[in-house]
Amino acid sequence: MKASAPGKLNVTLACGAPDERGYHPLRTVFMAVDLREEVAIAPAPAWSVRTRMLSETGQELALPQELLELPTNANLAVKAAKAVLREAGIESAAALTITKRVPVAGGMAGGSADAAAAIVATAATFGVKGDWQQLARTLGADVPFALAGNAALGTVYGDHLFPVPACRRHWVFACANGAGLSTPTVFKRFDQLPRPTHPSWVLPATSLRPLEGQLGEALIDPDPRRLAGMMFNDLQAAAVAERGALAEVIEAATSAGALCAQVSGSGPTVVALAPDGESGRRIAAKLQKLDSVARAIVTQGPALGARIEGK
Ligand code: C5P
Repeated sequence: MKASAPGKLNVTLACGAPDERGYHPLRTVFMAVDLREEVAIAPAPAWSVRTRMLSETGQELALPQELLELPTNANLAVKAAKAVLREAGIESAAALTITKRVPVAGGMAGGSADAAAAIVATAATFGVKGDWQQLARTLGADVPFALAGNAALGTVYGDHLFPVPACRRHWVFACANGAGLSTPTVFKRFDQLPRPTHPSWVLPATSLRPLEGQLGEALIDPDPRRLAGMMFNDLQAAAVAERGALAEVIEAATSAGALCAQVSGSGPTVVALAPDGESGRRIAAKLQKLDSVARAIVTQGPALGARIEGK
């Protein structure tokens, strides 16, 4: 059985002060995009993973070193498959084949999409039924959204979701050259910077509170300019402090016609909202020329969550 799950961007990301566990409460609007990870799974005598990476045009790309060196047991898709089998009381191992299309650069939750696709593929292969949101949460804060897809407000750590309607738009992702940014390092840097202030509707809340007012309206407004005016990422200043070149990418995207450009998640990928597909391709071509950009990709979102793709 084969399943797929989408990469994501954060349209807005409000971050609060760390709690007693050292984790930061988040209030974020996620949007899933058309770049999809695929996980095929078959029962096998021992656990194994084969991974390949494809460009958006289907060309085989070299796998980054960190993925080549990842032990099978540390692979989030394997952990997800094991968790489903454990919950169902099934003793079996499986062979996984992962086809990646979400850039590994960071900030787009490709690893979480692998886990979400693995949950769905494992459940289908072994005939297990369940509501997987809770299990997804135990694997990582972005896994529930990769399962759910479309657009959603994430509260608590971004892992408790309220679906929200949203218009489809064109998005340009600029993946950074060089190493990724460490998520804990970006959060630590965030704590050293002045805390951002927000109107009350974007405050990070550990309580479950649905999306209110203007942002919800902007998400369904056919004119993308309204949404562009509301996008923000509290982690951006910290990511830029760690990686100065990101400021240049944001600036270049905006001067190439992006309605808004910001760091995606904790970076180092930058995401830009394009007025339309043709402008998106023009923005991507300009970003592609920057030394600090490895790949610039135009895609669309919202996109469906994790789903079966057949055998
Ligand atoms: O979720 P993930 O395991 O990638 O998080 C890695 C680290 O990033 C955490 O151990 C924590 O230090 C930091 N983090 C945080 N607040 C969050 C998510 C992650 O402080 N909401």
